Amino acid sequence: MSNNADIRNIVILTGAGISAESGLKTFRAEDGLWEDHPVEQVATPEGFARDPALVQRFYDERRKNIRAAQPNAAHEALGRLDREFSGELLIVTQNIDDLHERGGAGNVLHMHGEGLSVWCQGCDARHRWEGTLGDGPACPACGEAAMRPDIVWFGEMPYEMDRIFEALSRADLFVSIGTSGAVYPAAGFVQQASASGARALELNLEESLGSSNFDESRLGAASELVPAWVDEVLKG
Ligand code: APR
Repeated sequence: MSNNADIRNIVILTGAGISAESGLKTFRAEDGLWEDHPVEQVATPEGFARDPALVQRFYDERRKNIRAAQPNAAHEALGRLDREFSGELLIVTQNIDDLHERGGAGNVLHMHGEGLSVWCQGCDARHRWEGTLGDGPACPACGEAAMRPDIVWFGEMPYEMDRIFEALSRADLFVSIGTSGAVYPAAGFVQQASASGARALELNLEESLGSSNFDESRLGAASELVPAWVDEVLKG
């Protein structure tokens, strides 16, 4: 691994594992979110069409959990990196929580949408929303009770893919934190970045499905691995 001094452009991908120590459930652990709620029912457009009340309740619950959670040392370390790193940094997160932002990071791209954002199917407006949708509130813009969670469900196109691919093509370091590498297109970012000449580092609790694609994999808790890595980068 070349040293950190020549790093000018970092792209970071995060997944549910970076928020696990903040008390937010991951998806594929034994007690994961998908254990109690089949994906097809609560994270697809078809599931929403079939039982909108169930889906609204699922995301009302997640919105409540997000608001009760606090950023952990990993989120705060990335906030410090964002402030102090002299090169370019983009944090692409698969997470719908706002813990990166509350941890001090500024340049965060939520490719799977945001739990605290809602999207009106009547007028296409998006609103920051901290309450519930289950009770069918009126859209502040058009007055229709037609708002859905602003979440990218399975079968829908993740947000800002062009911007992500452009950043990956210019990165000289790609870091994946707290993701199982189970879901594309995010799971393919490491190959994209490596093909453009970036070094690839994985920080994860356990081996992921994509570990073999990385130049280096460090196993452990994000709250320990991420602050240590940020110190290394900032010390050059
Ligand atoms: N520190 C670091 N990594 C952790 C920690 C921790 N404290 N706890 C768990 N992990 C790791 C797990 O080992 C696992 O590899 O985080 C990863 C979480 O994997 P998933 O539960 O699959 O979550 P994620 O990778 O974010 O899922 C991707 O799938 O269902 C969709 O839209 C959903 O965005 C999600 C996407």
